[in-house]
Amino acid sequence: MDNMDKLAGIILAAGDGKRMNSRIPKVLHRLCGKELLRYPVELLGRLGVDRVVVVVSPANQDTVKALLGDGVDYAVQPSMTGTAGAVKAAATTLQGQADQVVVIGGDAPLVTDDSVRRLLDGHLEEGRKMSIMSGIVQTSAGLGRVKRDLGSQQNVLGIVEATNDTERDGQPVEVNSGVYCFQADWLWENLEKVDVSSNGESYLTDLAAVAAELGASVAALTSNDPDEVLGINNLVELAHLEDIQRRRIRERWMLLGVTITDPSSVMIDGGVTIGQDTVILPNTMLLGDTTIGSNCEVGPGSVVKDSTIGDRCRVTSSALEDAVMESGVDIGPFSHLRPGAYLESGVHIGNYVEVKESRFVAGAVMGHFGYVGDASIGANVNVGAGMVTCNYDGKDKHRTVVEKDAFIGCDTMLVAPVTVGAGAVTGAGAVVTIDVPPARLAVGVPAKIVDR
Ligand code: UD1
Ligand code: MG
Repeated sequence: MDNMDKLAGIILAAGDGKRMNSRIPKVLHRLCGKELLRYPVELLGRLGVDRVVVVVSPANQDTVKALLGDGVDYAVQPSMTGTAGAVKAAATTLQGQADQVVVIGGDAPLVTDDSVRRLLDGHLEEGRKMSIMSGIVQTSAGLGRVKRDLGSQQNVLGIVEATNDTERDGQPVEVNSGVYCFQADWLWENLEKVDVSSNGESYLTDLAAVAAELGASVAALTSNDPDEVLGINNLVELAHLEDIQRRRIRERWMLLGVTITDPSSVMIDGGVTIGQDTVILPNTMLLGDTTIGSNCEVGPGSVVKDSTIGDRCRVTSSALEDAVMESGVDIGPFSHLRPGAYLESGVHIGNYVEVKESRFVAGAVMGHFGYVGDASIGANVNVGAGMVTCNYDGKDKHRTVVEKDAFIGCDTMLVAPVTVGAGAVTGAGAVVTIDVPPARLAVGVPAKIVDR
C-alpha cells in the first residue's frame, strides 16, 4: 500500500434484521460468545485501518454505541434505504478523509484477516476502483451472484441479487461476500448512480455493474474458503455459522497441542486460551474470557466461564464462573465454583461443593459436599463432609475465617462472622457461633470451647 493512502472502513449495521424474527438487533446476536458486530470491528483493527465508521439505525444506535464505545465513529442511516444508502450515510463523515475504503457487512463474522488483506493488496496494486470478495458455494440462497462475461477474461459485469435472479440452476455459484474495497473518490461519485430497486432499497452491489459500464476497473477475488462468504440473515444461519466457527476454533487448539476427544460435543469461545497437552473431554463448554494452562484435564461435562485455570488441574463434571484455580488443583465431579472462588496450588475439592467469594489457601482440602461462601480456608485445613458457612443472616453477608491447620468436623455449621483459630478442631455436628481460639476444640449445639 502506498504509505500516503489513507484507509477507512465502513461497517454496515443499520439493517433491521427482520428475517431474524428477534427483538435483539441482528448485529448484537452472538457467535461463539461474541456479538456479530465485533467481528468486523476487530478485523479492521487488526488490519490497521485508520478510521472505522459503523453505520447504525435510529433504532439500534444506542445499543450499538453501548457495545462498541468510542473506538469507532458512527453514522446514522435515517431509514432503511438499502446497503448503498448505508454507505451514503457514512459519506459525510469520510469524504476527504480517506483514499481507499473497505466496506464490510455487520453480519459476516467468518471473513478472515488473510482474505481481506489479499483483497486489499490486489486492489491497491491494480489501482482498481472496486474489488469484491467472492466465494463459490453450493447453495446460494439469499446471496448475490457475481455475473461475469463469457469471454476469456471473465470480466465482472455485475452482481445479481437473489430476488432478481432467474439464471440460477442449482449448480455451484460464485457469490458476493459483502466485503469490498473501493477507491474512495470513485465510490462517493458513483453512489448517486445506483438506482432504487422495486423494494425501495438501493443496492451497493449495483456499483459492480456501474463500474463495468463505465469501463472502470472492477474485479471479484474468489476466497479459498467457501464458508467465509456466508452471512447471517436468520437464526438458522446463525447456528450454521456458529457451528463452522466452533470447528475452526477447536481445530486451531488441536493443532496447537490440545487434545479434544469428541470435538463436536465441545464448545470453545473465541476468547479462550488453552495450554499444550491439556485434554478436553466430551460435553465441555469453555466460555468467555477463560484461560486454561497446560497438562490439564477438563470434562467430561464441565462448564468453565470467565475463569483462570493453571497447569496440571482437573475439572471433572463441574461448573466454574469467574473463578481461579492455581496449578495442581482438582475439583469434582459435580462441584460449583461461583464468582470470587480462588483455589491456591494443590487444593483438592471433591464432589458437591459450592464455593463463592472464598479463598482456599495452598493445601486445603474439602472432599465432600458443603457450602463455602465469603470465607477464607487456611493452609492444610481439612474440611469435613457437610460443612456449611452460614454466611447470611437474612440481611447481611458475613465472613468466616478458618486458620491454617484447623480440622473441621463433619456437618459443622460455621455461623458467620466467626473465626476458627490455627490448629483448632470442631466436632461433628458442631454449630459454631463464637470464635474458636487456636488449638482448642469446639463441640455441641451451640458449640462450647473445650480443651482437646
Ligand atoms: C448482501 C448483498 C449480497 C451479499 C450478501 C452477503 C446487497 C444488496 N446484497 O445481501 O449481494 O451476497 O450481503 O452476506 O448488498 N444494512 C444497512 N442498511 C440497510 C440495509 C442493510 O446498514 O439499509 C446492513 C445490514 O445490517 C447488514 C448488511 O448491511 O449488516 C447487509 O444487509 P443484508 O440485508 O443482510 O443484505 P443481504 O440480503 O444479506
Ligand atoms: Mg446479510
